Formats: sequence, C-alpha cells, structure tokens
Amino acid sequence: MNYFNNEVAIVTGAASGIGRSCAMILAREGAKVIVSDIDAKGGEETVQMIKDNDGEATFKDADVTKPEAFEALINFAVDTYGGLHALVNNAGIGGESAPVADYSLDDWNKVISVNQSSVFYGMKFGIPAMLNSGGGSIVNIASILGNVGFANAVAYVSAKHAVVGMTKVAAIEYSAQGVRVNAVGPAFIETPLLTENEAMTDEALAQITGAHPIGRLGQSDEVGELVAWLCSSRASFCTGTYYPVDGAYLAQ
Ligand code: NAI
Repeated sequence: MNYFNNEVAIVTGAASGIGRSCAMILAREGAKVIVSDIDAKGGEETVQMIKDNDGEATFKDADVTKPEAFEALINFAVDTYGGLHALVNNAGIGGESAPVADYSLDDWNKVISVNQSSVFYGMKFGIPAMLNSGGGSIVNIASILGNVGFANAVAYVSAKHAVVGMTKVAAIEYSAQGVRVNAVGPAFIETPLLTENEAMTDEALAQITGAHPIGRLGQSDEVGELVAWLCSSRASFCTGTYYPVDGAYLAQ
C-alpha cells in the first residue's frame, strides 16, 4: 500500500537534488505534488520525471525568500488540488566559505533569507491551509549542521540551527490540532549544492567524505525516503523532532 491516497504536497527547491528526490518519492507514494523552485526549467523537468512514472505533479514558480510568493504558492496548491497535507521546506543555498570575521554581510543576509526566513514563511502560510485540510505534516530540511558547527559556514550553520528550533516551536503549538512538524538533518549529500561549490576541491571533498563513518557521501533518495515517510500517516506519533540521515556523522 502507498503512503498517500491523493494527499497534496508542496516541495520547495524541487528542481534539483534533495528536493527533486522528495518530490519524486512523494509522487511515487501517491501524493499530488506541487514542484516549486525559482528554476523553472529544472522544476518542469522534475514534473516530467514524475509524469513519466505515472505520478501527478504541477510546477509553480516561487522565490521562498518572498513572503507574498510563498503565500501565493500555498494558495496555488489549494486551488489546484483542493487542499494541503504535506509541505517540505527544502530550498536552500550554501553561501560563501569564510571565517566569521571575514564573512560578508551580503552572504549572511542571503543565506539567512533563503535557508531560515523561508522556513518561517512556509510554516506561517502553510499551517492554516493544513488546518483547513484536516491536518498535515511539515518537514523542514535542516542539516547535520543544525546540530553541530562547521568552520567557515557561520550563516549556514546559524540558519540550520534556527530551522531545528522553529520546528520544535511549531510542533508544540500545532501537533494537537493535527499538524506534525519535523526537521531532517542530512549529512553531506552528493548534489549540485555540494559538488558545484567553488570551495569544494577534490581534496576538500575527500576529507568530507572521510568524515562519514559509512565511508561515502549520501544520495538524495536516501533523504527523500525519510522525508516521504515523515509526511505520511505512518509517522503519526513523530513530531517536534530532528532526524539525522547521516551515515553516522553525528555518532562520533
Ligand atoms: P541543490 O542546489 O541541488 O538544490 C537546491 C534547490 O533550491 C535548487 O533547485 C535551487 O534553484 C532552489 N532554490 C535556491 N534558492 C531558492 C529560492 N530563493 N527560492 C526557491 N528555490 C530556491 O541543493 P540540495 O543539496 O538538494 O539542497 C536542498 C536542501 O538540503 C537545502 O536546504 C540544503 O541546505 C539541504 N542540505 C543539503 C546537503 C548537501 O550536502 N547537499 C546537506 C544537508 C542539508
């Protein structure tokens, strides 16, 4: 049996990487998926990949740093498919690599805006739609760096810790009303965010890979499987928690 029976899900940042995997697995499990991103070409590709596998999906362009765009995205899901039951706040960027004293104000503001404020907007506008739809599940994509520090990434680490914090607050406030809220903490996953990062030399990548006791980087689908399960009613008592998916990175 599939996880979903035509429930409606939104995935942000679904044109690539982890977001694309989440969208595809949610659709595979029977959800109707709104694929959202600022990258329309990649987003439409994700929709086509879902349709090629007999799934249901529609693309909606939305910049998650803009509250009005996020609100419009939520309304689009409700207008298109009649409700909202799952929201994966996934869109994110890496930001520059520099120690705190050298970290630029521009990148600080950009990373906090894309990786942190967007998650607040998603919950602010998504929760009322879920309450009107009889309940739902929100999964906020944090990182292992929502739990531990990492040199030269002050904005990213701050934003991801904040995502874990606001996940707990929203879960305390809304779980009794039927909206579960969780955070997922991937370790380093082989996506463009990692592999196309200018700071990621072969040497740096080898060092990062070696920090995972499992002996390799993660794959997007390995995150998507957990996310889809958390979105489903099979995870009915799971709320307010942070779930690493990390090849034992945090176990050390
Ligand atoms: P990716 O770069 O493959 O995909 C990110 C997507 O977000 C892109 O399609 C991009 O167009 C979109 N996006 C960027 N800014 C946006 C905005 N303002 N509005 C809407 N969409 C926007 O990256 P990846 O690796 O799939 O990352 C997804 C999430 O997973 C991010 O939140 C990231 O921080 C998190 N993560 C990634 C890890 C990794 O090692 N790749 C590890 C831990 C967490």
